[in-house]
Amino acid sequence: MTRIRTQVGIVGAGPAGLFLGHLLHLEGIDSIIIENRAREYVIERVRAGVLEQGTVDLMIETGVGERLRREGMRHGGVQLAFQGRRHRIDFEELTGGRSITIYGQNEVVKDLIAARCVTERPLYYDVEDVAVTDFDTPKPLIRFRLTGKEHEIRCDFVAGCDGSHGVCRPGIPASRLCVYEREYPFGWLGILARAAPSSDELVYALHERGFALFSMRSPTVTRLYLQCAPDEDLGRWSDEAIWAELMERFNMSDGWRPNRGEIAQKSVTGMRSVVVEPMRHGRLFLAGDAAHIVPPTGAKGMNLAVADVRILSRALAQYYQQGRGDLLETYSDRCLLRVWRAQRFSWWMTSMLHRSRDGSGFDYRRQIAELDYVITSRAAMTSLAESYVGMALG
Ligand code: FAD
Ligand code: PHB
Repeated sequence: MTRIRTQVGIVGAGPAGLFLGHLLHLEGIDSIIIENRAREYVIERVRAGVLEQGTVDLMIETGVGERLRREGMRHGGVQLAFQGRRHRIDFEELTGGRSITIYGQNEVVKDLIAARCVTERPLYYDVEDVAVTDFDTPKPLIRFRLTGKEHEIRCDFVAGCDGSHGVCRPGIPASRLCVYEREYPFGWLGILARAAPSSDELVYALHERGFALFSMRSPTVTRLYLQCAPDEDLGRWSDEAIWAELMERFNMSDGWRPNRGEIAQKSVTGMRSVVVEPMRHGRLFLAGDAAHIVPPTGAKGMNLAVADVRILSRALAQYYQQGRGDLLETYSDRCLLRVWRAQRFSWWMTSMLHRSRDGSGFDYRRQIAELDYVITSRAAMTSLAESYVGMALG
């Protein structure tokens, strides 16, 4: 048995866990990060792509934004497409100059891993059988196996950054949590295509056949999504069928289309909204997808994870530097304010842009009216823009 001691034990090396480790390091606080997947798997996992201004600013301020500054694609707006036409929502003009940046989640993760390696603080991959206990005592315990050997970390606090399928949240007695949940009757079929983006901005499209999203990762890689069934069988979709469906849903009267290219990756993701309250139990603090999941239509998931750990790192810094726990006490409430705002926005974008399976003509006409309102009313488009670029990080 290997026994280790640290101040903060972090479970999960996604954006939440790695960013927390980074922010704690800057405050002089010791941490150990454990991850049950391989390093290559975590780096290669294709997920989020949109960074809010607050996330970008935090990366730059804390010294992990150099490559982001060079390679990130700054977007001053997005486009909404319906009935064969695209309409621009100008974020910069509507929000006093705020914008979003396209930079893959895996790139964020790579930059954070590089920063972690420089600090020489521990980050263990491929750990097995992780168990978190004693978090209602002053000395929580994390147990795991690494290369066949049992390990035990005694810490002051545990950060549960282990995503929606982790062990931290299920370790909290169900009677102490309230879980709010909503399933959506659709999923997204996503592809990465080796093709130059044919638009400088994202295009969110509502078509009679369902939602489609045009996004990108670099000047040579396009990211595209199609609304599908939540349990869609990818095997039924040949590359040709995916392109045919995309071209149909992005059929614009000005002739605009995504460029085609070799499909490098495809996947199906179901859509859920989940919020766990409170985000803390004793000395266990949940952050990111471990505490909340949003449907991807609002592009909020990774940004919420970063906002949580920013609040948590400040609270832990106050605890260690001033011996006070009031920011730890208010952690959950402060995070949940932003989380519920993001839930509202993500739910609204999702219901405006997806066709329900029963295909009600009433709903479709109502959705078109909603989109029409958003592109013609300055108040409505300002509301979308404000929510999309995100609340400032406090
Ligand atoms: P995760 O990234 O899930 O990280 C958790 C980590 O914990 C993982 O590495 C996991 O392997 C590890 N882990 C799990 N169990 C254990 C265990 N027992 N022990 C140790 N480690 C464990 N968000 C946006 O902001 N913008 C977008 O544009 C966007 N688009 C998306 C598109 C898609 C298709 C998907 C699926 C998601 C998207 N998201 C988006 C959401 C975003 O990817 C997540 O919200 C984000 O990954 C949350 O980060 P996290 O660190 O909390 O969780
Ligand atoms: C992405 O680029 O992967 C992306 C963009 C916008 C979203 C969701 C995902 O709303």
